[in-house]
Amino acid sequence: MTQGRFISLEGGEGTGKSTQAKALANALEKKGYVVRLTREPGGTPGAEIIRDLLLTGGEDKWDIRTEALLFASARAEHCAKLIRPALTRGEWVICDRFIDSSRAYQSVSGELSDAEIMELHQVGSNYLMPDRTFILDLHEAVAAKRAAARDRGDSDRIGGRDSDYHQAVMANFRQFAADEPNRIRLVDASQDAESITAMLLQNLVDLMS
Ligand code: TMP
Repeated sequence: MTQGRFISLEGGEGTGKSTQAKALANALEKKGYVVRLTREPGGTPGAEIIRDLLLTGGEDKWDIRTEALLFASARAEHCAKLIRPALTRGEWVICDRFIDSSRAYQSVSGELSDAEIMELHQVGSNYLMPDRTFILDLHEAVAAKRAAARDRGDSDRIGGRDSDYHQAVMANFRQFAADEPNRIRLVDASQDAESITAMLLQNLVDLMS
């Protein structure tokens, strides 16, 4: 049996990741692949409980190290119970956010280095990495407007952080794309949704066997 493929979608809030994850999953299913669409934090019952712990409550609820450990714990559960088994069965896994979100968001305060965040990933998930990662790139002000319209003033504990924070997150994502061009592709998210999905598919041709 062929090994499955693991694709992650990344970017700030309001960049259209979830819409594209669904569209990509549909397009791949039409091509005959078995697809598991999932998300982080979450994806399994236990990891969804950790999601709730992470995303509700006030800004000071968690120390940044606790926050990073909780994301890594949710990911460990998700990798062990859903992602690895699906890949072993030969399925395609499309994940709305993965390790690059931890690298982009939990590093902003400067208290945790990229190496430390990757160490948590090593311990929790034995360093499982996507075969391809798409970063949906949108000007922060445009993305913030879209996210505000979607959340109607009820953004989560991390989404509700200020614009400087979200600009730093997007700068981190762009840096990852520059550092790892083989795995990570930066996608202009200002285009219409169909054009973006077509571009994602085009950038997966080398992984289709
Ligand atoms: P979502 O609303 O796109 O599902 O993401 C939930 C929030 O969690 C979003 O603000 C990004 C944040 N996040 C992190 O800070 N670190 C992570 O590792 C992940 C997966 C999400």
